[in-house]
Amino acid sequence: MQKLIEFDEKNKVFHLHNDKISYLFGIEEGGYLSHLYFGKRVFGYHGQLRYPRVDRGFSGNLPGSLDRTYSLDSLLQEYSGTGACDYRTPALDLQNEDGSYAVRLVYQGHKITAGKPKLPGLPAAYATDEEAQTLAVTLKDELTGVTVTLLYTIFKDLAIIARSAKVTNAGSSKVALKKVASMQMDLLRQDMDVISLPGAHANERHLEREKIGQGRKVFESRRGASSHQMNSFIAVLEHKADEFSGDVYGFNLVYSGNHSFEIEKDQFEQTRIVAGINDFNFEWQLDAGESFQTPEVLLAFSSHGLNEMSQNYHQLIREHIVRGKFKHREREILVNNWEATYFDFNEDKLKTIVDEAKELGIEMFVLDDGWFGKRDNDNTSLGDWSVYAKKFPNGLKHFADYVHAQGLKFGLWFEPEMISHESELYKEHPEYLMQVPERIPSPSRDQYVLDLTQKAVRENIVAQLSALLDEGYIDYIKWDMNRHMSDVYSVALPKEKQGEVYHRYMLGLYEVLETLTTKYPDVLWEGCSGGGGRFDTGYAYYMPQSWTSDNTDALARQTIQYGTSLVYPPSVFTAHVSAVPNHQTGRITPFKTRGAVAMSAVFGYELDLTKLTVEEKQAVKEQVSLYKKIRPLVQFGDFIRLKNPALGDQCAWMFVAKDKSEALVFVFGRLVQAQPTLTKTKLAGLAEAKVYEEVTSKAKATGSELMELGFYDPVVRHDFSAQMYHFKAID
Ligand code: DGJ
Repeated sequence: MQKLIEFDEKNKVFHLHNDKISYLFGIEEGGYLSHLYFGKRVFGYHGQLRYPRVDRGFSGNLPGSLDRTYSLDSLLQEYSGTGACDYRTPALDLQNEDGSYAVRLVYQGHKITAGKPKLPGLPAAYATDEEAQTLAVTLKDELTGVTVTLLYTIFKDLAIIARSAKVTNAGSSKVALKKVASMQMDLLRQDMDVISLPGAHANERHLEREKIGQGRKVFESRRGASSHQMNSFIAVLEHKADEFSGDVYGFNLVYSGNHSFEIEKDQFEQTRIVAGINDFNFEWQLDAGESFQTPEVLLAFSSHGLNEMSQNYHQLIREHIVRGKFKHREREILVNNWEATYFDFNEDKLKTIVDEAKELGIEMFVLDDGWFGKRDNDNTSLGDWSVYAKKFPNGLKHFADYVHAQGLKFGLWFEPEMISHESELYKEHPEYLMQVPERIPSPSRDQYVLDLTQKAVRENIVAQLSALLDEGYIDYIKWDMNRHMSDVYSVALPKEKQGEVYHRYMLGLYEVLETLTTKYPDVLWEGCSGGGGRFDTGYAYYMPQSWTSDNTDALARQTIQYGTSLVYPPSVFTAHVSAVPNHQTGRITPFKTRGAVAMSAVFGYELDLTKLTVEEKQAVKEQVSLYKKIRPLVQFGDFIRLKNPALGDQCAWMFVAKDKSEALVFVFGRLVQAQPTLTKTKLAGLAEAKVYEEVTSKAKATGSELMELGFYDPVVRHDFSAQMYHFKAID
């Protein structure tokens, strides 16, 4: 394979490149790593970006040096420590056994290998020796012997570099890690914005954009989960950049726990980005000989705006994150009984929904919360994963057999990381509940978090789920998590290791997920956390799809799905048609619009099918049969955002087949006006010279016409409209 990583021995410069991008950094005076460039592919490098020497007041110099023009306080770096005149946000912060906080990271050696190593115990992108190459650069603090190995993997065909760091205590004394970022990047670019994806429960991942000003800004989660409140992603982009033009740098952490993305614009208008595990309540004891591996950050670059960045992420997540037999498999259209029944169901009621589902062509029935323990509401039974005999007097298998006999697959809801006070598990094992000794723990949804740092807790989860899965009738599992962490403490750890609990919890969770997904490879796993509360690339490593949001309102979902698509491909997020008035917003939207929004992802229903009118049933049949036709395009085509709902009265996106032979376009109207402003929709990603025909109207146009001229959107006389166009190349 072509060389993707080169080291210029003479000038001490590393150059990672493929056809799309180049990443350059060098070993500067004193052995410090200096960031040179990340951007569009360059052919060669002749040293022009060596950091200029300037004498700056109050920016101290290298230890023992008389050169006042070289300071770590201004040098653009790759991974900085503390204690030596760099006053900006560090990547690594630690306390040595003598109480000092100094760590000086100086180049020691490097190694280039084919492929991409696994990160022990952590989810990470994977690649064969033909698909990627990896550079490992080791830095060392001479005094203590602490080393940091920075990993950089460049993929052959993607504008993405994966970065992580491993800290090893190669000295003989103890070290307490206070902060270990996965990556740092220093940029000399002034006119930049930052995009983040904040939100709330039932209101996730809104695209928010702001100017990067001086000072420090942090986008983070301290909730023990990647969270609804702030997704584990930021993009730093030129102020003039939009969906189709301008330079964009993306940073996506492959991790499901506490995270932070720090941006600091320094006194010289240089911007530092540091990303990784949040240092909130974090402290990790590293004894001599021990190592700490960070999760990885996927660093993307696009010189053509946000869409190109997203397409790179989508391709990477589909091909190098999602694993197992569902990776390339079309996902079933399901009906989930949550919004249809909530806790109020029994076997007979569910059978009526299953019967309808069969009639309508739906492919899977998912039994949501309420089937286990004595669960009639959300106050009880979490932890008791055995069937609730009152609702299923003949056992769960009996009902699953019925579902299978109707030709549908059978899916089941779990919330394995939780415990209710009112449960058999709590009676037997109160010590499994995560809490601080002698403090009353805080409930949330009347439930508590299990302490997954304890081996016995992890084994209990695996044993309980295995007992059901071994019966062989479960085709799908929805893995939910309906509260965030509090009272973070583990009785299994000594007091000096309590700063490790947040991360040890994640390692425990990943161990359980790895065990179960490996043991049951035929089961399709859907991630969920009160909707999209754990919607991250780490989770996608185990869960080929995730429930996007508990908000099923078609209008709210446009904003949520638009933001989600910045990083995550529609093949990993699920969307369901639900009843109106919508249960979360009370809004009434047309059935067609609810269908169009849900069909823009992994599709399903979440309503009582037996309560539909004859016309609605007909509409479901048509949607189901249409989705079966367009499913490969939606789940595996290229997704392109066209109109951001936050910037106008419309939302639009499209899907294009890899060979550009087909495209599917969705245009959503929001509120109508009496005197409407006429609007056009212009497409993207088509073959310029190909002639396309729209399947329904039979209108013909070349790709270039559709992309440059566009077409008028129809004037509609109702709110929340949806138009769908299906173009097929005819020559
Ligand atoms: C939150 C999920 O997001 C919902 O879809 C549903 O499964 C409920 N939990 C059940 O408690």
